Amino acid sequence: MRVPIIAGNWKMNKDVQEAVSFVNQIKDHLPPASQLETALAAPTLCLVPMVKAAGGSPLKIMAENCYYKDRGAYTGETSPYALYQAGIHHVILGHSERRTYFHETDELINKKVKAALQNGLCPIVCCDDTMGRRIAGKKVHWVVSRILADLHGLSNDEICHVTIAYEPSWAIGTGESADPEQAAEGCYLIRQTISDMYGDAVANNVRILYGGSVTNANINALMAKADIDGVLVGTASLDPQTFLQLVHH
Ligand code: G3P
Repeated sequence: MRVPIIAGNWKMNKDVQEAVSFVNQIKDHLPPASQLETALAAPTLCLVPMVKAAGGSPLKIMAENCYYKDRGAYTGETSPYALYQAGIHHVILGHSERRTYFHETDELINKKVKAALQNGLCPIVCCDDTMGRRIAGKKVHWVVSRILADLHGLSNDEICHVTIAYEPSWAIGTGESADPEQAAEGCYLIRQTISDMYGDAVANNVRILYGGSVTNANINALMAKADIDGVLVGTASLDPQTFLQLVHH
């Protein structure tokens, strides 16, 4: 059975003090991780203080990115090895903002996914589609080809540690969420692709999230869909009370 996940992605919002205060406000109000997993992805500077603040609570602290090398002359990058050593065991990779503003390619993301897994990190791999492609009727091809490229070469064991987030870029930060049917269709297509690559048993265990303008107004309808195992929330995760409402939807 796939345990559902409610994950926040703060992006480049919050300083260390704000981040720690947020964790302190929510950590005693979370369900057990066996019932529903809760996670927050935060700017790199906030991660270690957040891990400390989260203490023995079920809250998972996630990085928003990492590089594919463990060490070396890569000024400004974050090592997946160092993240793991610091108690960060999850990382978002391939977010649409990384692809758009930092020109990350599927090839680079694939290297990062492999490096994360080799260091014991569980990646949440994001794949988008665009309104243009949707209108052009190429949505199916886009989502599937992206997943094939980003997960290329992973073993059956490795894929079990991967979570996938379907995040249509036109729904990110726009207030225009995919409707639950569209979101479920994207997640279904991703699961079918995983099934083609690894078989039904693996596909039925991989968790697939939806992200893009998730709020308290639409979370119930999204979470009710069979192929949506959770949500990756940007804007609505920035306020502690709103995040708790999402968790207890
Ligand atoms: O990763 C989550 C994200 O991109 C969605 O952001 O602000 O539309 O919830 P938002």
